[in-house]
Amino acid sequence: MELPFAESWKIKMVEPIRKSTREEREQWIKEANYNVFQLKAEQVYIDLITDSGTGAMSDRQWAGMMLGDESYAGATSFFKLKEMITKLTGFEYVIPTHQGRAAENVLFSYLVKEGDIVPGNSHFDTTKGHIEGRHAIALDCTIDEAKDTQLEIPFKGNVDPKKLEKALAEHADKIPFIIVTITNNTAGGQPVSMQNLREVRAIADKYKKPVLFDSARFAENAYFIKTREKGYENKTIKEIVREMFDLADGMTMSAKKDAIVNMGGFIATRREDWYEGAKGYCVQFEGYLTYGGMNGRDMNALAIGLDENTEFDNLETRIKQVEYLAKRLDEFGIPYQRPAGGHAIFVDASKILTNVPKEEFPAQTLTVELYLEAGIRGCEIGYILADRDPVTRQNRFGGLDLLRLAIPRRVYTNNHMDVIAVALKNVFDRREQINHGVEIVWEAPLMRHFTVKLRPIQK
Ligand code: F0G
Repeated sequence: MELPFAESWKIKMVEPIRKSTREEREQWIKEANYNVFQLKAEQVYIDLITDSGTGAMSDRQWAGMMLGDESYAGATSFFKLKEMITKLTGFEYVIPTHQGRAAENVLFSYLVKEGDIVPGNSHFDTTKGHIEGRHAIALDCTIDEAKDTQLEIPFKGNVDPKKLEKALAEHADKIPFIIVTITNNTAGGQPVSMQNLREVRAIADKYKKPVLFDSARFAENAYFIKTREKGYENKTIKEIVREMFDLADGMTMSAKKDAIVNMGGFIATRREDWYEGAKGYCVQFEGYLTYGGMNGRDMNALAIGLDENTEFDNLETRIKQVEYLAKRLDEFGIPYQRPAGGHAIFVDASKILTNVPKEEFPAQTLTVELYLEAGIRGCEIGYILADRDPVTRQNRFGGLDLLRLAIPRRVYTNNHMDVIAVALKNVFDRREQINHGVEIVWEAPLMRHFTVKLRPIQK
């Protein structure tokens, strides 16, 4: 008999978690204005709000923490980190930052000007925020197939080369760079193929434009290339990673995802002009160039995390857990963005809460219902997160309306996945009785989902 699959690690330290009653949760979510970001973590049983900064570090990473060099300038921890990044990506210039959006802020301060257009595949909300906040446009060129949640294709995160080429043909003078997000978080943690990265490079070269990778989940992307794309089955993850980055001019990185640290990020590039242009902003916003908002110990853990999570076994354990949850949802007929993504399952709320009109935010309503059901905190990646159109100020209902269940790395077991699946099934079974959603009481002009205040609509 073939041995079953099991995790490529064992557990050395645990953290107790606590269940609550439905009455408690009803009170807490009301106090949180029906926005799960406003809940206290202790009011949550299984926390799937994000896979960012919530992973469990390895014993090697913790050992690295003890060896951190906390020198203000020239710390050995920085040089270890830089060496690892250069080894994996080929990028020679490295600017550390405290997290991914800080890398965006530093680099975009140099690259993005008012009136610019930055084409890419479903810019993440902070990326979009850093572009729109500079009165520029984040132009989404994701393939149309990504919008059909039930369509099963291997690289649903891809850039549509036709849309990209059109953008360049029409607005080349306004485009400072092209951004490719790997994996494509907003479209459902969906990967981008090597073939597609090559196509983007070819279009960029034609118009002499640089390419930036938003690389938060680049290792998971490499896993999908290895397991889904012809010709890569026998390559190592590290070989694939190198081939991916050979097609870019630089990267911004939220190390809180695929480097499995609780805090950290960086910019890396092969372009001296980007480095020279951005480094002053690092000093201004983040810190001196050899720490950029991080402790020495954190840079050590980050370097080790990058090394460990570009190994196949670690990625296989992780992505098989996401697939396990997907299989359980399949048993119950619960629709989600197919196939399962690398870091999360994106439940298709508009296909479940069909009685809740889009103006009443179905995915947010489902997020609240799942919390009430079992204390599980997912997060809305939908109409609230989409913000208003910067020009018309209308809600943007053009995209998908999803409940994201993001799985932290090396944190929960498949027993937790079972609880999540059954809790969602219970909500799914009573979906016909859910007729009203939520309305906005207060919202911020940008990135409103973090602080929005909502109330349930009672009719
Ligand atoms: N890019 C992508 C693709 C991301 O998913 C994120 C963060 C960032 C950039 C920004 O990085 O948080 O370190 O500043 N995503 C988290 C999430 C918050 O929950 O998906 P950060």
